[in-house]
Amino acid sequence: MKHENSLRSANWFGREGKDGFIYRAWLKKQGIPQHELEGKPVIGICNTWSELTPCNSHFRELAESVKRGVIEAGGYPLEFPVMSLGETLIKPTAMLYRNLVSMDVEESIRANPIDGVVLLCGCDKTTPALVMGACSVNIPTIVVSGGAMLTGRHRGNSIGTSDIWRFSEDVRAGRMTNEELAMAEAGMCRSDGHCAVMGTASTMACMVESLGLSLPQNAAIPAPDAARKILAHLSGSEIVKMVRENRRLTDILTREAFENAIRVNAAIGGSTNFVLHLLAIAGRIGVELDLQDMDTFSANIPLIANLQPSGSYFMEDLYYAGGLPAVINALLDHLHKDCITVNGKTIEANYTNAVSYNKDVISSMDNPFNTVSGIVVLKGNICEQGAVIKPSAASSHLMKHTGKAVVFEDIDDYKKRIDDPALDVDENSVLVLKNVGPKGYPGMPEVGNLGLPAKLLAKGITDMVRISDGRMSGTGFGTVVLHVSPEAAAGGNLAILRDGDIITLDVQQRRLEAAVSPEEITRRKAAWQPVYPQSTRGYVQLYQQHVEQAHLGADLDFLKGSSGSEVTRDSH
Ligand code: FES
Repeated sequence: MKHENSLRSANWFGREGKDGFIYRAWLKKQGIPQHELEGKPVIGICNTWSELTPCNSHFRELAESVKRGVIEAGGYPLEFPVMSLGETLIKPTAMLYRNLVSMDVEESIRANPIDGVVLLCGCDKTTPALVMGACSVNIPTIVVSGGAMLTGRHRGNSIGTSDIWRFSEDVRAGRMTNEELAMAEAGMCRSDGHCAVMGTASTMACMVESLGLSLPQNAAIPAPDAARKILAHLSGSEIVKMVRENRRLTDILTREAFENAIRVNAAIGGSTNFVLHLLAIAGRIGVELDLQDMDTFSANIPLIANLQPSGSYFMEDLYYAGGLPAVINALLDHLHKDCITVNGKTIEANYTNAVSYNKDVISSMDNPFNTVSGIVVLKGNICEQGAVIKPSAASSHLMKHTGKAVVFEDIDDYKKRIDDPALDVDENSVLVLKNVGPKGYPGMPEVGNLGLPAKLLAKGITDMVRISDGRMSGTGFGTVVLHVSPEAAAGGNLAILRDGDIITLDVQQRRLEAAVSPEEITRRKAAWQPVYPQSTRGYVQLYQQHVEQAHLGADLDFLKGSSGSEVTRDSH
């Protein structure tokens, strides 16, 4: 057990004379009596509550539950805000600011008298940003996710965020009226919480649970369910225990824990954004992990969870069927069972008794929902450092496909021409979008699942091969090749593709090739000039100068690794 004198916060509140006076007196103005500051673990509650982040708008209440747990266990909670990222409102894309938030989190934790920290995470980027920042400090840390919202309803049917893409194509193809679309909009978001499908927010909640960073059941309890508050309360008590036992992120986030997370992500049909965020987290904690690992460790893991966008059900259904514990239980023989989690128990001890109550929602390894799962990493002359595709969300008939490129130089070019009746495109064409990568857009927006040309939608075409250096929403689907690296703006070969180039996608063989000779590539590159907008000041300039490519996780190069929790200068 850690001795109270070794508490980090004692370096503030345990001091004598003027220094201690200043640290204590200004906290007392909040009504905190002396004894609360004597030898108790101080627990920071890192809150991404914001009315501009609707998925996290219930986090003040959640923080109160955490506080009750902290106090019950003998700690003292202090809540603090960090920048929040509301996926639906923030422009140009929340991904542009993930690394900025991680800096806010890292510096807020290190600079303050905090012995342990609870990360309140919800909407997509708030999870990786908070975990990345905490990794760069490495004090005892536990994640409490906000939970998914209740399943949406429209005309007697269940709906979730993945349906937005279908509705949009239906309106463009004349199969749905704008009035019906407005009705669906009214039924989509029925409660507190994040997107109700296995989009990026749910994927991230599953990621933290499978890494061992949260208590069991964190991933799937719906936001409005009382069990969510109970989990927050228990997490508040657990973090005090973690401080006393000095259990830190480096004890939990081992190479084996990352391999477990990749396998679980395959079994649930998690978002392609998982790739970027897991690589970035590994980079902060100092675990060697590369893009190829995403393919290697998800191979042979079938899709067990039948959840949209790869399947039919919603996060609420996953919880009622047993939650992530039932999925992890089904996978136990394929996981590193002895990985330690936040409660000090192993993955095996936490999940060995979990069961599936509904085999339609959580199936088994022997009888999976789909044998196709995971993230496939593609290589070839279009993507020398790799690209990714999620086969479970793609069309089986396009897994091996050759077609002529229809190339858009950037998103504006795409918007201008995609519905032009004169566009030279058919269902066998391959749509190529450049300059939507980390530097090029900047911020790597979720535009990779490009809408199809209106004239093909009208013919009933529902999927085509699409390739870009951007991302796709975790709620999206289609035969979509993403994260092409190096990106066009960084001079990757994607930049020199032209209309009419013959492109072959072969998912089975992990290949993405253009029938363009090395000599022709060299010739085209000699004439190539970057055309992306380059910022001349502020954070965006810093981002464009330092962001790494997608195959490395798109972190800023100078943020990799950790600076620890020590504060080397002291002005008092
Ligand atoms: Fe926040 Fe989907 S918009 S999780």
